[in-house]
Amino acid sequence: MKDVSKDEEGAGGMKDIIKKLVETYGPSGSEDRVRDLIRDEIQGAVDEIRVDALGNLIALKRGCRGDGGAKLLIAAHMDEIGVIVTYIDDSGFLRFSNVGGVSPFTLIGQRVVFANGTVGTFGREKLDDWKDLKLDKMFIDIGAKDRAEAESRVKIGDVACFYREMTDIGGKLIAKSMDDRIGCAVVVEAIKRTKGIESPNEVYFVFTVQEEVGLRGARTAAYGVNPDIGIAVDVTTTGDTPEAPRMSVKLGAGPAIKVKDTSVVAHPRVKNLMIEAASSAGIPYQLEILDFGGTDAGSIHTTREGIPSGVLSIPARYVHTPSEMVDMGDVEGAVKLLVEIVKRPLAGSV
Ligand code: CO
Ligand code: ZN
Repeated sequence: MKDVSKDEEGAGGMKDIIKKLVETYGPSGSEDRVRDLIRDEIQGAVDEIRVDALGNLIALKRGCRGDGGAKLLIAAHMDEIGVIVTYIDDSGFLRFSNVGGVSPFTLIGQRVVFANGTVGTFGREKLDDWKDLKLDKMFIDIGAKDRAEAESRVKIGDVACFYREMTDIGGKLIAKSMDDRIGCAVVVEAIKRTKGIESPNEVYFVFTVQEEVGLRGARTAAYGVNPDIGIAVDVTTTGDTPEAPRMSVKLGAGPAIKVKDTSVVAHPRVKNLMIEAASSAGIPYQLEILDFGGTDAGSIHTTREGIPSGVLSIPARYVHTPSEMVDMGDVEGAVKLLVEIVKRPLAGSV
């Protein structure tokens, strides 16, 4: 009965942790605050927690391997895109470069926040044509009167991320860094819902660093864990908005099981075990081919002698903007599918 009431509460009960996760500062290389938040959430729900040399948070749920179980690695990345200060001019304006995939068009009118709480907005040089807008035609304005004042608040190499609150629009949420804090939230919730449930698999829940700059944390984590199967949990784009690039994934039609992106061709047996898990649990799902972009599975599957890997995707609109939108039904479906995968004996699957 306890499980049923928890299920009825569903993903709605996750909104508080999602809000905390998306509003936390954590560009690539500066994931500490996100890591602390997740550690606090999952403490007591797993058997072991450690942090590796690069900063990945690795949580182990022991299982009874040998009884049809496998060693499973589930990865969600903690980092988000951002901007990094490269030069401070005499008037106190900051020139910057990107950390991960940042389009200049998504920056106009936005605000960013540095680790020490300094907030800035963006300006641009005069342009003959909007098409000429590049990051090096832009600057961050923190309201400093000159270089000395700017340097007292921001140093070369300091990194900022979008400064935005989450908005609950009823059934859907809009926030910065849904990529990939929504994946972190899904994994955290799956950990909580499988607490006390014996899994035939030895499950490593890994919260990775530096995905947005080249899937880097997942590589060392996968090497260290050396799993039989890898599954990344991340967002994917959709094809359901006006004049969108053709893509069959829709918001609200369930979590997506990846077939291919530019970093990985999902291992057929991992893809199929995910499809079987979704079908047998009655979870609606979609199949996804993403024409641009990759995930942690891209580096997991080429680690060591090769690790069969797949991806569980949460559909999201406006990815890599300050207003990424997800559907709570998709989030709930992703949690249920992950729980189902953790509970199934996976040794025969790969
Ligand atoms: Co991303
Ligand atoms: Zn991502």
